[in-house]
Amino acid sequence: MSKNPYFEIRRSRIQGRGAFATRKIRKGTRIIEYAGERITHEESDRRYDDETMQRHHTFLFTLNSKTVVDGAANGNASRFINHSCDPNCEAVIEDRRIWIEALRTIQPGGELAYDYQYEREDDADEKEEARYPCRCGSVKCRGSILAPRRRTRAVAAEARARRRAGQAR
Ligand SMILES: C[S@@+](CC[C@H](N)C(=O)[O-])C[C@H]1O[C@@H](n2cnc3c(N)ncnc32)[C@H](O)[C@@H]1O
Ligand SMILES: [Zn+2]
Repeated sequence: MSKNPYFEIRRSRIQGRGAFATRKIRKGTRIIEYAGERITHEESDRRYDDETMQRHHTFLFTLNSKTVVDGAANGNASRFINHSCDPNCEAVIEDRRIWIEALRTIQPGGELAYDYQYEREDDADEKEEARYPCRCGSVKCRGSILAPRRRTRAVAAEARARRRAGQAR
């Protein structure tokens, strides 16, 4: 894995390991691609069973209704970027590729994080919320990594891409 010019991986107060800026990263910088094996939703369900996992932990990113990117297979350091409810990065999808970009200028030492907005079922109840507890520590913390409404990470990223392209609906 080649060394990323913007961040290093070390222990995080949020969870496990995280990505920390090694230099000032200016707002809008495209930091890294979320890389990994492209698999179907069925295959991701086969690999990771949320129900039986003691503590939910995966390196999956939902690209769209057909494809999930598994950062645990052929991935890179992007898989260590944690979730925050008040993030300094965002995931942008362009031409079926996922990029992590700086939402604001990040100082050296700052932990990189984006809003995972895990897909939630319409009827997501408290038990499901509890399965994905958030420890981002922000005052804006939702308490859960699940998306606030029905938007998934992929849908939100696509909407942002449209807005950027001036096609907001
Ligand atoms: C893509 S990994 C991020 C790297 C992870 N910290 C590690 O050391 O492997 C995603 C997993 O990290 C954990 N995680 C990330 N952000 C979190 C947060 N804000 N609160 C709690 N757990 C988090 C969850 O277990 C999640 O499934
Ligand atoms: Zn949070």
